[in-house]
Amino acid sequence: MDLFRNPPRLPLIAPSILSADFGRMAYDCAHVLNEAGADLLHVDVMDGHFVPNLTMGPALLQSVRAHLPDAFLDVHLMVTDPQQFIQPFATAGANHITFHIEPAQDRHAGAGLSPLSQGYDVTALAETVRGHGMTAGLALNPETPVDAVLDVAGGFDLLLVMSVHPGFSGQAFIPEVLSKVERLRDHLGPGIRIQMDGGIKPGNADDVRRAGCDVLVAASAVFGVPEAERGKVVTDLRGVSGSS
Ligand code: DX5
Ligand code: ZN
Repeated sequence: MDLFRNPPRLPLIAPSILSADFGRMAYDCAHVLNEAGADLLHVDVMDGHFVPNLTMGPALLQSVRAHLPDAFLDVHLMVTDPQQFIQPFATAGANHITFHIEPAQDRHAGAGLSPLSQGYDVTALAETVRGHGMTAGLALNPETPVDAVLDVAGGFDLLLVMSVHPGFSGQAFIPEVLSKVERLRDHLGPGIRIQMDGGIKPGNADDVRRAGCDVLVAASAVFGVPEAERGKVVTDLRGVSGSS
């Protein structure tokens, strides 16, 4: 499945299951895809080191995959050493993996590596991800300038521009990141997905789409409302231009 390379429609709406009810995860996932009309599931993986939170691992994803064989599972690795998780998430059933540029840069900057970081070459790691049959994404934090990724961006299927400091759902949107998306879109052209993640609601989704994003992630905006209202949230995030 190649949703990011050959999307049947744009924008794509990606609920983050970080705000789902972990006690009935499969049900919440099925509902948001089949009833609320979302396009894929965004899986936020945190290691308690790159970001100050622990969330979910390959076992959780494997369970979701078992219940939803056709779902597109987009894994967002907020971890210091993404290399060690590529194969486990591929085996568990992931379709796509995005990792961050910031821990990789440690090596290139010659900075002292943390004990958990090996440093990594982002282009080579993207090829590793593809070698496991998945598409590859590169993420940048709000304070990371867009110049840090311009040279390597063309080697990815998706660029993820964070609109909050990663670690928790429910944070306020940082509007200053929108200008980074405009530069990235100019640089990349229309063929590569630009995803935005953090603080996206129906009220600001228009700005996000207009800046050039075509994959919108939302956790609390989708799962923070009663089940019956989730379809309207997904429709509002997609906006008037999104049609099937
Ligand atoms: C942030 C995660 C996001 C987060 C979004 O660390 O990468 O995917 O869950 O949550 P909301 O949409 O509530 O800001
Ligand atoms: Zn995320």
